[in-house]
Amino acid sequence: MLFRQTLLFLSRRKELEEFLKRNPLARQASSRYVAGDTRQEALEVTRRLNEEGFRVTLDYPGEEVADQEQSRAATEEYAAAVEEAASLGLQAGISVKLSHLGVRLDEELAYENLRTIVERAAQAERFVRVDMEGSDLTEATLKIVRRVHGISKNVGTVVQSYLRRSSTIIEHLNKEKISVRLVKGAYLEPEEVAFQDTEEVDLYFMRLVEALFRDGDHPAIATHDEKLIEFAVDMAFIYSRAEHEYEFQMLYGIRKDLQRKLLQDGYRVRIYLPYGEDWYGYFMRRLAERPANLWFLLRNLNK
Ligand code: FDA
Repeated sequence: MLFRQTLLFLSRRKELEEFLKRNPLARQASSRYVAGDTRQEALEVTRRLNEEGFRVTLDYPGEEVADQEQSRAATEEYAAAVEEAASLGLQAGISVKLSHLGVRLDEELAYENLRTIVERAAQAERFVRVDMEGSDLTEATLKIVRRVHGISKNVGTVVQSYLRRSSTIIEHLNKEKISVRLVKGAYLEPEEVAFQDTEEVDLYFMRLVEALFRDGDHPAIATHDEKLIEFAVDMAFIYSRAEHEYEFQMLYGIRKDLQRKLLQDGYRVRIYLPYGEDWYGYFMRRLAERPANLWFLLRNLNK
């Protein structure tokens, strides 16, 4: 737990970011989780994943933006990436973060930017998933997703099972037919808003899976935790959900064995595939989930 907190704290430190971005070994380590620096590299990896039978959601990491111009540049990249993927016939949607679209500068700006991406993705017949960030952004994210969903249905969001109020959130999203990706949650949150104990997070995850299979619209169960995946498979059976009505999602580079096994068993599996130069925050959150990855990196940094 302490490691996780330290790493999540470090994920926001600019000095460490500069150091790691210059370090070839850190770059190499990050390549396990990130497709490459460019959109072309990401589309090439997408093509390979599609050939194996996986669907993809592209992610262009980058969190805070300093001004409107940067938020518009991110918007353009997200929209162009999903359009290009579609024009190449790739099975890929896109995942976006509202902080990258300027939500901390101005909610209206983030709304406009998201709407642009969702409308362009609709033209290309592709889906946009709005990632969930820290709990300071939960309300704004839900509000903006609802507004855009009112205009175009090809948008959904994410619910985190570490947040204590997630069952109420899911209940509302289910009624509104907004598709949910369920995750455990990757940010540092205080005890008042989030469970700190992993068992509580897992039990709550199961309760939310049940609600999603009972009433949800095309739920996505996003975890590498085998016991939770097995539980979801059971729930899909109990609620008579056909394989095309839901999907499993996993992160690029994590538990490839499990990704392949699910695919072989006939389930839909979507890989979350990040690309771009701004990989530091994403990479640190992945290290925080698995301190063993950090020891490997530290042991080799000075060689
Ligand atoms: P858990 O962390 O318990 O891991 C289960 C097993 O998976 C581990 O025992 C290990 O084998 C393997 N594993 C997990 N992480 C690993 C790593 N980094 N390196 C190597 N092995 C690892 N979060 C969020 O707050 N907002 C969001 O929008 C999203 N979006 C999202 C999309 C998708 C497709 C996924 C899969 C995940 C997210 N997340 C997220 C991240 C999520 O909240 C969570 O932090 C990670 O999925 C890790 O939790 P698991 O459910 O895999 O369980």
